[in-house]
Amino acid sequence: GMLVHRYWGKRLFAPEDYPPTLHSEGWASFNGPGQTLPEEYPAYGGLKYIDPCLKVSFADGVRDSDLAFQSASMSDRDHGEHLVIELHDRAYPLQVRLHYRVHAQHDILERWVEIANLDDHPVTLERAWSAQWHLPQGGSYRMEHLAGRWLDESQVISEMLTQGIKTLESRRITTSHHHNPWFAVDQGSANEDQGDVWFGVLAWSGNWKLSAEVTDFGSTRINLGLNDWDFAWRLVPGETVITPSSFAGYTNAGYGGASRTLHDFIRDRVLPHGHKLHPILYNSWEATQFDVEETSQARLAELAARIGVELFVVDDGWFHRRNSDHTGLGDWWPDEDKFPHGLSPLIERVNALGMDFGLWIEPEMVNPDSDLYRTHPDWVIHFPTRPRSEARNQLILNLARTDVQEYLLEKIDALLSQHNITFIKWDMNRNVSEPGWPDAPGDPRELWVRYVQGLYRVWGFLRQRHPDVTWQSCSGGGGRADLGILCLADQIWESDNTEATARLRIQEGFSLVFPANTMEAWVTDANREKISLDFRFHVSMCGSLGVGGDLSRWSGEDLKKAAHWIALYKELRPVIQLGDQFRLRSALENRFSAVQYLSKDRQEGVLFAFRTHLPEPVQLPTLTLRGLEPQARYEVEGIADVRSGLSWME
Ligand code: GLA
Repeated sequence: GMLVHRYWGKRLFAPEDYPPTLHSEGWASFNGPGQTLPEEYPAYGGLKYIDPCLKVSFADGVRDSDLAFQSASMSDRDHGEHLVIELHDRAYPLQVRLHYRVHAQHDILERWVEIANLDDHPVTLERAWSAQWHLPQGGSYRMEHLAGRWLDESQVISEMLTQGIKTLESRRITTSHHHNPWFAVDQGSANEDQGDVWFGVLAWSGNWKLSAEVTDFGSTRINLGLNDWDFAWRLVPGETVITPSSFAGYTNAGYGGASRTLHDFIRDRVLPHGHKLHPILYNSWEATQFDVEETSQARLAELAARIGVELFVVDDGWFHRRNSDHTGLGDWWPDEDKFPHGLSPLIERVNALGMDFGLWIEPEMVNPDSDLYRTHPDWVIHFPTRPRSEARNQLILNLARTDVQEYLLEKIDALLSQHNITFIKWDMNRNVSEPGWPDAPGDPRELWVRYVQGLYRVWGFLRQRHPDVTWQSCSGGGGRADLGILCLADQIWESDNTEATARLRIQEGFSLVFPANTMEAWVTDANREKISLDFRFHVSMCGSLGVGGDLSRWSGEDLKKAAHWIALYKELRPVIQLGDQFRLRSALENRFSAVQYLSKDRQEGVLFAFRTHLPEPVQLPTLTLRGLEPQARYEVEGIADVRSGLSWME
C-alpha cells in the first residue's frame, strides 16, 4: 500500500530500463520502511522521521496519518498527459490526490495535490506541500539556489547537500528578496554547457518552503510547498484544498540547458502573452521621486519621445495627497493639486508624442494618513492588542477579506476604464508583521494562503477586464518574482539597485530562472561618474530595456547616444527577448562577463561582453559562441570598441 518513488532523470524508453522497485521492512528497531524507502508523498505517521509532505490533525486529536494507495488513472484533461494517483487514509475519510501533468514539449513535469475531507468533522492541515522531488538513489548532490536582500537580489549560491535538511523559505507574505522558490541540483560536475541537472520551482507568491533533505539512508529529496510556518488550514467537511503547482525538469545540458528549458516554458505556458515584444519604457521615479505634476512630467515625456521611448510611465506620487511616503496609499485617484484636470491631459500629451502611457500603483498597501484608513482601520492585517508596526509608514490591507478585494477591484477598474492606460507597475513595498486576521471565518492562520489567493483574484479579474494592459510585478524591486505571479504579470522589476555593475550579477542570477523578456532593466544615473552611458545601456539591453535616469540632466551628447542604443535595441529586441540565452562568462567571479542570445532559428545572435575591471592594459579573453549552426557562416556586425570609462563591448 505504500506508494514508492522509482525514478526521475534521463528519459528511458522501455519499462525494463527503470531501476527495480525498492523494498524494505525498515532497519533495526529504529527505522520503519517509511524511513528507508523513498516514499513518493509521505505523510507524518508511523515509524518515519524524514521531512513529510503532509501533516494532519484529525478532529479526535489523532495527529498521525496513514496513506495507502487507492488507484491511479489518466485524467481526460490535457490530452492524456495527466496522471492522478489517489491515496486514502486507512482509518479516516481523508483523500489525497496527487496530480502529475507532463508538459512533453518542454520536458517539464507539473505536480500539485488535492486534499479532500470526506468526513463529518473538520480536520486541520498543518502542512500540505505540493511535491517531494526524489533524486536518483545513492547520489551525492550539489544544490544551486538564489539568495539576497533588498538592493541585492538573486545572488547565486551553490553548496553540497549533506545528511540533514537545508531549508529555504519566505515568512514575509511575498516570495521575498531573500530566497526564491527555485532549485537546481547536480552531482558536482555539471557546468553551464553540460552535465545532469535536476531543477524545479514552486509557482506561488506568498510564504513558501523548500526543504532539501539527505536522509540517513542516502536518499536525496527536495520538497516544495506552502510554508508550514505559522500555518494551519481548517478543512471543513466536504472541503478540498488544492496546493500550488511545482514544476520540475531534468536536462543533461547543464545549468544553461536548465535555464533555457525554464525560459521556454515560462514564455510558452506561464506568461499570458509570452511572445509579445515589450516596448521601451521610460519611468520617472529616479528623476522626480514624489515631485510629480503635469508640467515636469510632460517635459520628461518630450525628451523620452526624442530618444525613441515607446511607453511613458509615471511612478509613485500621482495620487491623492501623495507628497511623500507618509500619505495617500489607498486613495487611488489623481491628486487634485498636482493634476487639477485629472490624468487625462498628461496622457493625451504623452499619446500625442507617439507613446503609450503607464502608471504605478501599490494596491495592497495603506498609509494610516489616508481617507481609506480613516474609514476602514480594521481592513489591515493586525492583532487588536498589538501596535501595528509600520514600515515605510504603511500597513498591509488584508486581501484575504472579500470587502478589501472588492474595494481594490472597483478603484483600479475605474482608473483603467477612465484612462488610456496600457501599463501598470504593481508594487508591494513592505513585508508582513503582526499577522492577525480578526473575525477570520476559519483558522486565522489561513491568512498566509488566502491573502495570496485574494491577490490573484483581484489581479486576475483586472487582467480579464483590461486584456490590453501590460502588468509589471514589483515588490521594492525583485521581492515578488515567481511563476505564480507570472501567470498575471508580464514582467518583473528585478531590483531597485540600478547600478550597472551590481546589476550584472543580479541579472545573471535572475536569468537562471526567468527569461530576458520578463526582466525589466532601466538605464539610470546610478554611478554615472564612473560608468559610461554606453556601458549602462549595454547592461540594460540584456533584458527588456527601459530608461529611468533624469533626462533633463542628460547632455545633448547623452541624448544622442541614448537614441542610438535605443534604435539598435529595437532591431535586436526579438533575439534578446525571445531567443535562447547563453551565459558565456559569469559576472560572479570574472572581470569579464558575457552573455549571448540566439534567435530560435539560429539565424541571428547578439553578444554582450563586459569588462568590469581596471586598469588597462589587460588581456581580453576569448569568447566561444554557443548554439550556432556549425556549417553556417555568420556575418559579424556592429563590433564597437568603446573603451571610454569602464566600457568595452565587442
Ligand atoms: C519601490 C519600487 C521603486 C519605486 C518606488 C516608489 O521601491 O521598487 O521602483 O516604484 O517603490 O515608491
